[in-house]
Amino acid sequence: VKVAFEMATSDASVYAHHTLREIMEQPEVVARALAPRPEIELAAGALRTAGRVFAVGAGTSYHAAMVARYAFAEVAGVDLQPVLASEHDLFLRWMDAGSVVLAISQSGETADVLEAVRAARAKGARIVSIVNVPHSTLERESDLSVNVRAGPEVGVAATKSFTAQLSTLFSMALEAAGRPPLDAERLRQLVTSALSSEGSARAAGERLRDATDVYIVGRGVHYPVALEGALKVKELAYVHAEGLAAGELKHGTLAMVEEGTPVVLVNPGDGTYVDTISNGEEMKARGAFVIGISERPNDLYDLHIPIPEARGLELPIVEVVPLQLLAYYVALARGAEIDRPRNLAKSVTVK
Ligand code: G6P
Repeated sequence: VKVAFEMATSDASVYAHHTLREIMEQPEVVARALAPRPEIELAAGALRTAGRVFAVGAGTSYHAAMVARYAFAEVAGVDLQPVLASEHDLFLRWMDAGSVVLAISQSGETADVLEAVRAARAKGARIVSIVNVPHSTLERESDLSVNVRAGPEVGVAATKSFTAQLSTLFSMALEAAGRPPLDAERLRQLVTSALSSEGSARAAGERLRDATDVYIVGRGVHYPVALEGALKVKELAYVHAEGLAAGELKHGTLAMVEEGTPVVLVNPGDGTYVDTISNGEEMKARGAFVIGISERPNDLYDLHIPIPEARGLELPIVEVVPLQLLAYYVALARGAEIDRPRNLAKSVTVK
């Protein structure tokens, strides 16, 4: 693993930014994160016998917890409760010795996450951490720790650590359900193919250069992916972006849409496709400029960012890639400081 990290970082010079290099590393990152390892089996064993299951995180890691909720429900019939680390107080009353808390953190140093974990432990919960930085405080304070093996992430905005977290969480859910793991080689190819949409993502990014607001929408598991895409746009490009469940548009946000308002549909051809199209049509009828992320072209899209044909748990991993690229290229077009966004820190060690 160490050798792979060094190889991946040795060609840093070919990319203008660490963030872009880290986005481009994802085929290898995902394949590595999907590799079986004893810690995943142990975590799955703990999940099989657990009472309540929680997943705690902040920022991007919280979005991974939200995606995991859909995955655990669908593949393992496990009712996983995502918990925003800074809002953990509400959930403590449900935690006891039968509970398992999945603590998700790239750095393993986020103060809000450590505080939530300490409070959960005091209630008797078992802590299974999902971290990227080895030997972190969170890893030391866990009963069991699973490394996502993304390798060092230099860009402040999380990219490859997110897809590595998803890969690791999906492996756990499948293992807990006694189902075969995702095919690492297939995922490597799918992510490579998603990266080949860079040209369309760049065109979309340039189109959004002067935007003041961007709405990113999806249904089902694509909703938390939309939230993650919006977070990337805010962090990297300083453009106001909102992630929304597509069905919620009509309950308020539609009032914001005027001529040219950019809307990104996270719209793969699964069971959410038809409804998301009709939500997109409502936006378009009010003048929205619609960007569609989908393997299928559609007349609705003013701009289509293609993704490869994928299914089920593969989709969140595949579709977040063009959103990361889109955010990167909006930021580039605006001249933002991509690797070190203003006001933000890679790991936030204060409450
Ligand atoms: C900071 C970073 C975010 C990150 C969040 C959680 O705010 O800027 O990119 O998602 O912390 O970090 P963690 O290391 O706990 O995953």
